[in-house]
This record gives sequence, structure tokens and C-alpha cells, in this order.
Amino acid sequence: MQVYLNGQWLDGDSACVSVLDRGFLFGDGVYEVIPVYGGYAFRLQAHLNRLQRSLHETRIPEPHDREGWQAIVDGLIERFGADGDASVYLQVTRGVAQRDHAFPAEARPTVFGMINPLHPVDEAVLEQGVAAIVREDIRWHRCDIKSISLLGNVLLRQEAVEAGAAEAILIRDGLVTEGAASNVFVVKSGEIITPPTDECLLGGITRELVLELARFHGLAVREAPIRELFLRNADEIWLTSSTKEILPVTRLDGKPVGEGVPGPVWHTMRELYVRCKERLRRGDKICY
Ligand SMILES: Cc1ncc(COP(=O)(O)O)c(C=O)c1O
Repeated sequence: MQVYLNGQWLDGDSACVSVLDRGFLFGDGVYEVIPVYGGYAFRLQAHLNRLQRSLHETRIPEPHDREGWQAIVDGLIERFGADGDASVYLQVTRGVAQRDHAFPAEARPTVFGMINPLHPVDEAVLEQGVAAIVREDIRWHRCDIKSISLLGNVLLRQEAVEAGAAEAILIRDGLVTEGAASNVFVVKSGEIITPPTDECLLGGITRELVLELARFHGLAVREAPIRELFLRNADEIWLTSSTKEILPVTRLDGKPVGEGVPGPVWHTMRELYVRCKERLRRGDKICY
């Protein structure tokens, strides 16, 4: 499959970036992951808005305007074809320069794009739910930026995998922030709650859609801080992300969450989300 690199379409196996690229040396870059259903990029403008924000916050010059990004995404989707779902990955680094921590005067951003098949989460996994562990949030203090520096997230996800779990749910100062690569929702007495966005967590596009769907359909929903004990006593816990959508957590640190099976509010939300995706697949502009 061809990839996009700095204005060129290249064979994915042979496309190369300099060893002096600041993404390679410092993790000095930002990225986006956009799901594609039936040839349509889901919530593309929201993803591009977040990419623009990440670039602004890291002071990396914007390499493309909206039309430019759209053309890259369209080019990737065209090369993938309309069969099957996919995920577009976009990455921008500060570029290639002699190694020095401070911003180089001359470097131009490196822009990379690729597309990969997106496999739906197994129905059997959705029926049972997944396990999660709780860990201290060891990451930096700007988790609102979708940075490619993901060492903290990588270490935490690996801990989860080694504990036989799908995700680590992170706690900072006694409060839930997010998962290693997902946002967190809990349900308590029928009410859906997720932590408000701040510099400690990423404003997930799926998180935002779940909030919109809940509000539009009149479900009880609130953005509020979640204490660790509240998480441990939740009736339901969900993880949201663009590639995994809405995953029910049914075991937390080895103990059942609620009844130990995906809960009724998750089933409702999952149905709303799937309907939304199906509308997009038909080419509808309106999602709900
Ligand atoms: C740390 C983190 N939080 C939240 C999310 C969910 O964001 P989105 O719904 O936009 O995929 C991700 C996605 O990868 C993530 O890495």
C-alpha cells in the first residue's frame, strides 16, 4: 500500500525518513487516527481541528490548510478502496535538523500519512467485555496534546497486557484521567459520567460523540471528576476510542464491574453508535 510522505506517494515498504528527523530523535511531533467506514472518514473535521490544535500547542508550523489535509486523506482512502473499514494515520514532526533541543530555525515539518485495515472488535469480546487494571498516571502534564511521545502510554498499556487486561485506567491526584489509549466513562445509578477535559487527558473524538449522542437522546449524562473509589464502585465502565469505539469493561483489577457483564446503558449507547456509523456508510451527512 502506498503512503504519503512530504508531498509524494511512495511504496510503504521503501518510504524513508532521515535519522535526524526530530520525531525519531525527540518524539517531537503530533498525530491523528481517523476511522474510515465504507470509504467515508468519520468525524474528519473534528480530527483535523484537533490536529490543528496539537500543531498550535507544540508550535509546529501548519504544513497544510484544510483542503490540503482533505486531499491527503482522500488520496489514502482512494488507494485503500471502498471495501472494508480502515484507519487513516497522519503524523507531523518538526522536521529534520542537527540534533539540538531548541527549535531549529530552518526545519520544515515532516508530513506522513498511511492507511490500514480496521478490524471490528470481536462480537465475543463485546459480549463478555474486557478486563482493565488501575495504575498511577505517570505521563507528562500536557496529555491534551496528541503527541507522538507516547512512552508513558506504551509502558502502561504493556503493564495491562502483561496483567491479562485490555487497558490501564489511569489515576492522577486520586482522580481518573483516561486510559493508556482511550477515554473513560462510568455509569452509576443510570447516569453516564466522564471526566471533564483539561490538560490531563485527550479530548477524544469518540468521547465527544458519545456525549453528543447521550444528550441528543435524552440520556442522563455529566462531565465530572471521577474519584478512584467511585470508579471501583461503578455499575458500568466503558473505554472509548476511534478504533475500538465503545468497549465495556467488565473486570477491574480482577473484580467484576457491576454484574460482571456489559450493562444496559452500554447496550443502548452501542446501538446508537452503530446506527451513527451505518448512516455514514450510506453517505448520510447527519449522524443522528
Ligand atoms: C491517550 C488517549 N486518550 C483518548 C483516546 C481516544 O481518542 P479518540 O476517540 O479521538 O480516538 C486516545 C486514542 O488513541 C488516546 O490515545
